[in-house]
Amino acid sequence: MADPWPYPVVDPTANQIFTFFGRKGSGKSQAAREHFRAWPGTDRLIIDINGDADPGEDLAAIVLRGPLVQLPPRRDPQIPETYRWIADPKSPSFREEIDQAIGAALFPRDRKVLMWIDEGGEAFPVNQTGPNGRLFLHQSRHFLASGLICAPRPKGLDPLTYGQSDRVLLFDVPAPMDRQRIGETVGINAMRLSTVMDATNRRGKYWSTMYHAEDHAIYRLPPFELT
Ligand SMILES: Nc1ncnc2c1ncn2[C@@H]1O[C@H](COP(=O)(O)OP(=O)(O)OP(=O)(O)O)[C@@H](O)[C@H]1O
Ligand SMILES: [Mg+2]
Repeated sequence: MADPWPYPVVDPTANQIFTFFGRKGSGKSQAAREHFRAWPGTDRLIIDINGDADPGEDLAAIVLRGPLVQLPPRRDPQIPETYRWIADPKSPSFREEIDQAIGAALFPRDRKVLMWIDEGGEAFPVNQTGPNGRLFLHQSRHFLASGLICAPRPKGLDPLTYGQSDRVLLFDVPAPMDRQRIGETVGINAMRLSTVMDATNRRGKYWSTMYHAEDHAIYRLPPFELT
């Protein structure tokens, strides 16, 4: 068995959810950003809750502010766009606006959109996920929607987020309870997962352990190359 495992190619024609967990500074946002940057052929939407989810100047993201109901049309129908919607934390309807922005990635149904949500806990709060968030987690494939979702810990995050994920990337997630919860939710032995994660973390900074749902397998990944 190769170790680290070769990273399974991302099929951009499939609609997918990836979740990235890890404590502060462990590398989850950088990993999500690299996936976002490398994802070909679709419109891309950053639901930027903290105002710091920057995809890189070269992507020339169109910045959107205020409630987002629908994405603007492409400037050139042949060329996918990148949008960065910046949430307003002072808005009394902050959570609803985030959910509405998720809706802008779902509808119209035939527009394929990849989202990057760096603060998963605000978009998919446990027991309080909004109607569009629920639709996305339950039925993303019917809406041609994909998502890259980051959160420091599973605590506070709707378990559907990682339960429905095609890939769950675990950077430094030290709390045994978090490992237990993730293992149980995706259906792999939590003790085995924890042993693999400890060995991964010994490799160094920004390494990750990935659960891949399709293969029902665990991968060990070296740091993603930053572009
Ligand atoms: N793959 C990598 N290669 C080199 N440096 C990295 C890599 N990933 C992260 N870093 C460095 O670590 C810093 C923190 O990474 P990142 O922003 O991804 O952390 P995070 O897990 O999202 O933390 P937070 O919870 O604070 O958002 C980055 O700004 C970068 O300097
Ligand atoms: Mg981050």
